[in-house]
Amino acid sequence: MVKMTDYQGDAAKSPLELFEKLTEQGDKVRSLKSAKAEKAEIDAAVQLLLKLKVDYKKVTGQDYKAGCPPSENSLGSENGLAADGNNDEGDDEVNPWSVSTNNAKGVDYDKLIVRFGSSKIDQALVDRIEKVTGRKPHHFLRRGIFFSHRDMHQVLDTYEKHKSFFLYTGRGPSSQAMHVGHLIPFIFTKWLQDVFDIPLVVQMTDDEKYLWKDLTLEQCHQFAMENAKDIIACGFDVNKTFIFSDLDYMGASPQFYRNVVKIQKHVTFNQVKGIFGFTDSDCIGKISFPAIQAAPSFSNSFPHIFGDKKDIQCLIPCAIDQDPYFRMTRDVAPRIGYPKPALLHSTFFPALQGAQTKMSASDANSSIFLTDTAKQIKNKINKYAFSGGKDTVEEHRKYGGNVDVDVSFMYLTFFLEDDEKLEKIRQDYTSGALLTGELKKTLIETLQPIIAEHQERRKQVTDETVKRFMTPRPLNFNL
Ligand code: TYM
Repeated sequence: MVKMTDYQGDAAKSPLELFEKLTEQGDKVRSLKSAKAEKAEIDAAVQLLLKLKVDYKKVTGQDYKAGCPPSENSLGSENGLAADGNNDEGDDEVNPWSVSTNNAKGVDYDKLIVRFGSSKIDQALVDRIEKVTGRKPHHFLRRGIFFSHRDMHQVLDTYEKHKSFFLYTGRGPSSQAMHVGHLIPFIFTKWLQDVFDIPLVVQMTDDEKYLWKDLTLEQCHQFAMENAKDIIACGFDVNKTFIFSDLDYMGASPQFYRNVVKIQKHVTFNQVKGIFGFTDSDCIGKISFPAIQAAPSFSNSFPHIFGDKKDIQCLIPCAIDQDPYFRMTRDVAPRIGYPKPALLHSTFFPALQGAQTKMSASDANSSIFLTDTAKQIKNKINKYAFSGGKDTVEEHRKYGGNVDVDVSFMYLTFFLEDDEKLEKIRQDYTSGALLTGELKKTLIETLQPIIAEHQERRKQVTDETVKRFMTPRPLNFNL
């Protein structure tokens, strides 16, 4: 059995020796798993593998990739793993196209922080945000729904020196209707805009969806306009927000395109293959797309807002599936003379069927859409929401339910703001006093008005309103 204490560190080894050791250790983890070895033994082997990866990165400046011996000048990503979902040390797959785990409790986010090389949003950071803004932290922060960050302390340092920063987030418009999960980063971004009083840019990647999906350019552009209405309905301030479709803005903004080209020049095909898992048969549009998602991180991509200032700090709130794009961006930034964007990462709003996957628009039954009626919401929750309750009322009363795997309870952590009420539900469900049907009823009664109010606000968003948000123009803020 491998004990962590056996391992003395391998930073002194040559890159090739380390590579071989890593390959060996990867094989070992796989064989322990397939032999269904004891959990402690697998965990120890995984820990050693992670440690070796850190050393490999230290020695080579590159990320370890199975089957790819170290090369002279590979960029890789900021962390120890490629983002193509290939990882030896765990079953969780998290990348921009797919999220899955075998664990009914959902993705192991602590492990993901180690794999992705980001930092945990700890209580000290939450307290600091409260101190700097003078506002009670959003429940997404209080409950660890936004759980990971990159450089958030630096953003707060800047802000404390009375220098502004800007927010950047986005949406890939793949369908007419967004789902409730998509709201999470936008609800939080709206809160950040309010408490910090700063500008926001929202990228609608209609080009991305054309490249990845079986859709026409016109459909993707039209979905971008429709989805923009849902984003506006989250309550963003038109004087501080610029929303843009890539298909429109790329041609209209020479500065934006210049940044895209700069990024393209500084990332090789090998690097995007390593980060995103592209293969030789992927179209060249996909291969160069990451540069387009990276470019809004740099303030001079928006001369109508920031003039020619290239040093305004950017903060990107998103779910952690988008992190590979920004690991690449952060690697490139200093080499083209720009600051690295900071990030705030959220966990995933789970599919109705369970936290093994995220809510995804491509599976209609896994999702509650922002267009669903009150009746559809009720039926979907009653029919599909995975329950942590027991099979019979008697058993449930006796043994209680399991909130760690119960999707209705998970949804309430996102949408029920009242901390005390949530805690009471947790206790009552765990003790068996609250039945699954009653828990689902609370969720239905919580979600129905939230979606109905969203639909009401969206109705007020006219084409004229969309045009205002999407017109390149100066925004109101103090630098
Ligand atoms: P897209 O359209 O897949 O997702 C939009 C935003 O929603 C987040 N998200 C979720 N959050 C919680 N739970 C879920 N189940 C869930 N599903 C999606 C995503 O992380 C994202 O923040 N390529 C991007 C568009 C984009 C972008 C950006 C996103 C362009 N620039 C900058 C974030 C930041 C995309 O297709 O997102």
